[in-house]
Amino acid sequence: MSLAPWRSLISRALHLNRSLVYARYFQLATVKKNGRPANRTVVFRGFWGETNKLKIITDSRSQKFTEIQEQSGGEICWYFPKTREQFRLSGEITLIGCNNYGQDFQQARQSTWQEISDNARVQFAWAHPREKRANFQTFSPPPPDPIVPLDNFCLLLFEPLQVDHLQLRGEPQNRWLYSQNELGDWETLEVNP
Ligand SMILES: Cc1cc2nc3c(=O)[nH]c(=O)nc-3n(C[C@H](O)[C@H](O)[C@H](O)COP(=O)(O)O)c2cc1C
Repeated sequence: MSLAPWRSLISRALHLNRSLVYARYFQLATVKKNGRPANRTVVFRGFWGETNKLKIITDSRSQKFTEIQEQSGGEICWYFPKTREQFRLSGEITLIGCNNYGQDFQQARQSTWQEISDNARVQFAWAHPREKRANFQTFSPPPPDPIVPLDNFCLLLFEPLQVDHLQLRGEPQNRWLYSQNELGDWETLEVNP
Protein backbone atom coordinates (compact mmCIF):
# COMPACT_ATOMS: atom_id res chain seq x y z
CA MET A 1 0.00 0.00 0.00
CA SER A 2 1.37 3.42 -0.92
CA LEU A 3 1.82 6.09 1.70
CA ALA A 4 -1.01 8.62 1.76
CA PRO A 5 -0.20 12.25 0.90
CA TRP A 6 -1.45 13.46 4.31
CA ARG A 7 0.97 11.18 6.17
CA SER A 8 4.02 13.29 5.41
CA LEU A 9 2.02 16.41 6.37
CA ILE A 10 1.39 14.90 9.80
CA SER A 11 5.07 13.92 10.13
CA ARG A 12 6.02 17.46 9.20
CA ALA A 13 3.58 18.93 11.74
CA LEU A 14 4.98 16.59 14.43
CA HIS A 15 8.47 17.76 13.60
CA LEU A 16 7.61 21.47 13.63
CA ASN A 17 5.67 21.07 16.90
CA ARG A 18 8.25 18.77 18.53
CA SER A 19 8.95 21.23 21.39
CA LEU A 20 5.32 20.82 22.55
CA VAL A 21 4.92 17.48 24.30
CA TYR A 22 1.13 17.78 24.00
CA ALA A 23 1.33 17.97 20.22
CA ARG A 24 1.57 14.17 20.37
CA TYR A 25 -1.86 13.93 22.01
CA PHE A 26 -5.07 13.84 20.03
CA GLN A 27 -8.73 13.18 20.63
CA LEU A 28 -10.15 9.83 19.60
CA ALA A 29 -13.91 9.62 19.20
CA THR A 30 -15.84 6.36 19.06
CA VAL A 31 -19.51 5.40 19.03
CA LYS A 32 -21.27 3.89 22.03
CA LYS A 33 -23.74 1.05 21.85
CA ASN A 34 -26.62 3.50 22.27
CA GLY A 35 -25.40 5.52 19.26
CA ARG A 36 -24.08 8.39 21.33
CA PRO A 37 -20.51 9.65 20.80
CA ALA A 38 -17.61 9.08 23.21
CA ASN A 39 -14.39 11.05 23.06
CA ARG A 40 -11.09 11.11 24.92
CA THR A 41 -7.44 12.18 24.69
CA VAL A 42 -4.83 9.57 23.77
CA VAL A 43 -1.14 9.54 22.86
CA PHE A 44 0.07 9.05 19.30
CA ARG A 45 2.50 6.11 19.36
CA GLY A 46 3.74 6.45 15.79
CA PHE A 47 2.71 4.95 12.49
CA TRP A 48 2.71 1.18 12.12
CA GLY A 49 5.84 0.61 10.02
CA GLU A 50 5.54 1.92 6.49
CA THR A 51 1.73 2.10 6.55
CA ASN A 52 -0.85 4.84 6.98
CA LYS A 53 -2.09 3.30 10.25
CA LEU A 54 -1.67 5.15 13.53
CA LYS A 55 -0.77 3.30 16.72
CA ILE A 56 -2.58 3.97 20.00
CA ILE A 57 -2.37 1.94 23.19
CA THR A 58 -5.17 1.23 25.59
CA ASP A 59 -6.49 -1.12 28.24
CA SER A 60 -8.89 -3.88 27.21
CA ARG A 61 -10.82 -3.11 30.40
CA SER A 62 -11.60 0.42 29.12
CA GLN A 63 -14.94 1.58 27.76
CA LYS A 64 -13.41 2.37 24.37
CA PHE A 65 -12.33 -1.24 23.91
CA THR A 66 -15.92 -2.48 24.18
CA GLU A 67 -17.18 0.39 22.02
CA ILE A 68 -14.70 -0.43 19.25
CA GLN A 69 -15.52 -4.15 19.46
CA GLU A 70 -19.12 -3.30 18.66
CA GLN A 71 -18.55 -0.43 16.21
CA SER A 72 -15.09 -0.12 14.66
CA GLY A 73 -15.56 3.37 13.19
CA GLY A 74 -13.73 6.24 14.85
CA GLU A 75 -12.51 9.77 14.34
CA ILE A 76 -9.32 11.49 15.40
CA CYS A 77 -9.11 15.24 15.89
CA TRP A 78 -5.59 16.58 16.17
CA TYR A 79 -4.56 20.22 16.57
CA PHE A 80 -0.97 21.40 16.22
CA PRO A 81 -0.65 24.75 18.05
CA LYS A 82 2.66 25.93 16.60
CA THR A 83 1.71 25.46 12.98
CA ARG A 84 -1.97 26.21 13.70
CA GLU A 85 -3.38 23.30 11.74
CA GLN A 86 -6.01 20.67 12.42
CA PHE A 87 -6.27 17.15 11.04
CA ARG A 88 -9.55 15.25 11.31
CA LEU A 89 -9.11 11.61 10.41
CA SER A 90 -12.11 9.42 9.92
CA GLY A 91 -11.41 5.71 9.84
CA GLU A 92 -11.58 2.15 11.06
CA ILE A 93 -9.95 0.78 14.20
CA THR A 94 -8.42 -2.68 14.61
CA LEU A 95 -8.12 -3.97 18.18
CA ILE A 96 -5.05 -6.02 18.93
CA GLY A 97 -5.48 -7.54 22.33
CA CYS A 98 -4.05 -10.81 23.60
CA ASN A 99 -6.77 -12.73 21.74
CA ASN A 100 -5.92 -11.38 18.31
CA TYR A 101 -3.74 -14.11 16.84
CA GLY A 102 -2.39 -12.39 13.70
CA GLN A 103 1.36 -12.85 13.93
CA ASP A 104 2.32 -9.42 12.57
CA PHE A 105 -0.25 -7.90 14.88
CA GLN A 106 1.09 -9.69 17.98
CA GLN A 107 4.57 -8.63 17.06
CA ALA A 108 3.45 -5.00 16.78
CA ARG A 109 1.66 -5.29 20.13
CA GLN A 110 4.74 -6.76 21.79
CA SER A 111 7.22 -4.27 20.41
CA THR A 112 4.95 -1.39 21.40
CA TRP A 113 4.83 -2.76 24.96
CA GLN A 114 8.63 -2.92 24.97
CA GLU A 115 8.94 0.66 23.70
CA ILE A 116 6.72 2.38 26.28
CA SER A 117 8.04 3.68 29.61
CA ASP A 118 7.90 1.76 32.92
CA ASN A 119 5.40 4.37 34.04
CA ALA A 120 3.12 3.70 31.10
CA ARG A 121 3.44 -0.08 31.56
CA VAL A 122 2.61 -0.16 35.26
CA GLN A 123 -0.78 1.50 34.62
CA PHE A 124 -1.90 -1.74 33.03
CA ALA A 125 -1.34 -3.45 36.38
CA TRP A 126 -3.50 -0.93 38.24
CA ALA A 127 -6.97 -1.69 39.56
CA HIS A 128 -9.82 -1.90 37.05
CA PRO A 129 -10.50 1.49 35.40
CA ARG A 130 -13.82 3.16 36.17
CA GLU A 131 -14.59 0.94 39.17
CA LYS A 132 -15.02 2.37 42.65
CA ARG A 133 -11.74 3.90 43.83
CA ALA A 134 -9.47 1.10 45.10
CA ASN A 135 -6.94 1.16 47.97
CA PHE A 136 -3.84 3.22 47.51
CA GLN A 137 -1.63 0.07 47.55
CA THR A 138 -3.29 -1.31 44.41
CA PHE A 139 -1.62 1.54 42.53
CA SER A 140 1.91 0.42 43.46
CA PRO A 141 2.00 -3.10 42.01
CA PRO A 142 5.30 -4.78 41.18
CA PRO A 143 6.54 -3.56 37.79
CA PRO A 144 5.24 -5.78 34.99
CA ASP A 145 7.59 -7.77 32.74
CA PRO A 146 9.01 -5.25 30.22
CA ILE A 147 9.18 -7.92 27.49
CA VAL A 148 5.85 -9.76 27.61
CA PRO A 149 2.73 -7.57 27.60
CA LEU A 150 0.06 -7.99 30.25
CA ASP A 151 -3.10 -9.57 28.80
CA ASN A 152 -5.11 -6.36 29.10
CA PHE A 153 -2.56 -4.36 27.08
CA CYS A 154 -4.12 -3.54 23.77
CA LEU A 155 -2.76 -1.93 20.61
CA LEU A 156 -5.22 -0.04 18.42
CA LEU A 157 -4.43 0.47 14.76
CA PHE A 158 -6.36 3.38 13.31
CA GLU A 159 -6.67 3.29 9.52
CA PRO A 160 -7.81 6.65 8.11
CA LEU A 161 -10.29 6.51 5.22
CA GLN A 162 -10.82 10.26 4.92
CA VAL A 163 -8.72 13.16 6.13
CA ASP A 164 -9.71 16.80 6.50
CA HIS A 165 -6.75 19.18 6.87
CA LEU A 166 -7.39 22.78 7.94
CA GLN A 167 -4.60 25.31 8.06
CA LEU A 168 -5.46 28.47 9.98
CA ARG A 169 -2.29 30.18 8.85
CA GLY A 170 -2.95 32.05 5.63
CA GLU A 171 -5.39 34.70 4.58
CA PRO A 172 -7.80 33.15 3.79
CA GLN A 173 -7.25 29.85 5.58
CA ASN A 174 -6.53 26.65 3.61
CA ARG A 175 -8.40 23.37 3.65
CA TRP A 176 -7.89 20.07 1.84
CA LEU A 177 -9.90 16.85 1.80
CA TYR A 178 -8.19 13.54 1.18
CA SER A 179 -10.08 10.40 0.28
CA GLN A 180 -9.50 7.13 -1.53
CA ASN A 181 -11.00 6.33 -4.94
CA GLU A 182 -12.33 2.87 -5.98
CA LEU A 183 -8.78 1.74 -6.77
CA GLY A 184 -7.66 2.69 -3.30
CA ASP A 185 -5.55 5.61 -4.51
CA TRP A 186 -5.60 8.78 -2.45
CA GLU A 187 -7.08 11.88 -4.04
CA THR A 188 -6.72 15.44 -2.83
CA LEU A 189 -9.37 18.13 -3.15
CA GLU A 190 -8.68 21.73 -2.18
CA VAL A 191 -11.85 23.22 -0.70
CA ASN A 192 -13.02 26.41 0.96
CA PRO A 193 -12.20 26.65 4.66
C1 LIG B 1 -2.82 13.69 27.96
C2 LIG B 1 -3.58 12.38 28.07
C3 LIG B 1 -3.11 11.27 27.40
C4 LIG B 1 -3.81 10.06 27.47
N1 LIG B 1 -3.36 8.98 26.76
C5 LIG B 1 -4.08 7.83 26.76
C6 LIG B 1 -3.70 6.74 25.91
O1 LIG B 1 -2.73 6.80 25.15
N2 LIG B 1 -4.47 5.62 25.95
C7 LIG B 1 -5.57 5.54 26.74
O2 LIG B 1 -6.23 4.50 26.71
N3 LIG B 1 -5.96 6.54 27.54
C8 LIG B 1 -5.23 7.70 27.56
N4 LIG B 1 -5.64 8.75 28.36
C9 LIG B 1 -6.82 8.58 29.22
C10 LIG B 1 -8.07 8.72 28.37
O3 LIG B 1 -8.27 10.07 27.99
C11 LIG B 1 -9.33 8.18 29.08
O4 LIG B 1 -9.54 8.88 30.28
C12 LIG B 1 -9.20 6.69 29.39
O5 LIG B 1 -8.57 5.98 28.33
C13 LIG B 1 -10.62 6.06 29.59
O6 LIG B 1 -11.37 6.27 28.43
P1 LIG B 1 -12.63 5.35 28.03
O7 LIG B 1 -13.40 5.12 29.29
O8 LIG B 1 -13.39 6.14 27.03
O9 LIG B 1 -12.10 4.08 27.45
C14 LIG B 1 -4.97 9.97 28.28
C15 LIG B 1 -5.43 11.10 28.95
C16 LIG B 1 -4.76 12.28 28.84
C17 LIG B 1 -5.30 13.50 29.56
